[in-house]
Amino acid sequence: MNKIRAAVVGLGYWGPNLARNLQAAGDYELCALCDQVPARLERTLQSYPWAKSYTDFKTMLDNEKPELVAVATPVAHHYSLARLALEAGCHVLLEKPMTATIEESEALIELASKKGVKLFVDHTFTYTSAIRRIKELYATGKLGELLYVDSVRINLGLFQPDVDVVWDLAPHDLSILDFVLGVQPVSVQGRGSCHNPRGFADVAHVSIEYPNGLSAHLHLSWLSPVKVRKMIFPGTTASLIYDELEQSEKVKVYNHGFSFESADTETRQHVQVTYRRGDMWAPAVDASEALKVELAEIAACLRGGPTPPGTAEAGYSVVRTLSAISRSLKADGARVLL
Ligand SMILES: NC(=O)c1ccc[n+]([C@@H]2O[C@H](COP(=O)([O-])OP(=O)(O)OC[C@H]3O[C@@H](n4cnc5c(N)ncnc54)[C@H](O)[C@@H]3O)[C@@H](O)[C@H]2O)c1
Repeated sequence: MNKIRAAVVGLGYWGPNLARNLQAAGDYELCALCDQVPARLERTLQSYPWAKSYTDFKTMLDNEKPELVAVATPVAHHYSLARLALEAGCHVLLEKPMTATIEESEALIELASKKGVKLFVDHTFTYTSAIRRIKELYATGKLGELLYVDSVRINLGLFQPDVDVVWDLAPHDLSILDFVLGVQPVSVQGRGSCHNPRGFADVAHVSIEYPNGLSAHLHLSWLSPVKVRKMIFPGTTASLIYDELEQSEKVKVYNHGFSFESADTETRQHVQVTYRRGDMWAPAVDASEALKVELAEIAACLRGGPTPPGTAEAGYSVVRTLSAISRSLKADGARVLL
């Protein structure tokens, strides 16, 4: 089977991970690398000396004609670079968040459809075994009805030059929630605060309402001295905790819960609360790198196989929610309908 000629633009922190996985996967030929900063280009090229190197993206497209371009630049450049690649007839894998505005996401979706090429968004966590297991446990009723979801995604930095903490970190939570819950948010409320001279929120608390009264709460921060990546899914049958930083037991299911007995709805004085503290079990999750799985699924899709979860529509949905959160932050926590 012919290998898919692939190129990466943006070789800062994340781009080299895409290059490494493209190279390692048997489906691709890493043909070109691009970064406007020559030193970054040189550093990555050391591992792939056969790849052609470019500081200008358009020249790379014209000369190399890659079939797939992975865009890993800051979000402010996603739209313009993806547009050039789509216009050149390339399939595109765009980093999260897909674009800086809803209008840009819509325009890229329309352009990809017009050109007959595929547009993917790197919602990395939807390719992890842990998140897929959580989706399966929820979908098969093992948790019962979800009561709410709490997520904490905090660490020290990295302060981003062009986006606030919500646009930097929340795409992970929002893409996980869209994927696991399978429903779209109804409204959002967010409050943030800024402790840096750039004027961006570096701490935020966001509440998201889903259909049927389900809510999710995100705590996002670049100011925490310790790194925490935890999501809690309390359910009526069992509750689940996902700790992304755990080495072996990333997902734990607790057969814990509560029930109210003899509820006297009139006086509410004779309500007995019974607590259930059962076993905890940790479903097996495999440790494959998410990007490896993602690139394999993208290659299969390009060859006519199933569509992976990181579609342009999934990217658009996350951008739409992020935009609503930004409006709420500006309006001091007002509820914004989607
Ligand atoms: N999926 C994930 O888990 C994950 C993790 C980290 C970052 N990201 C995303 O990856 C993207 C890049 O983040 P980063 O932390 O690597 O940023 P970075 O600033 O470290 O690197 C970006 C690189 O892009 C280059 N660049 C910018 N504009 C360019 C242009 N027009 N042409 C060529 N090169 C250009 C810069 O010189 C820089 O080297 C962001 O969208 C970010 O949200 C995703």
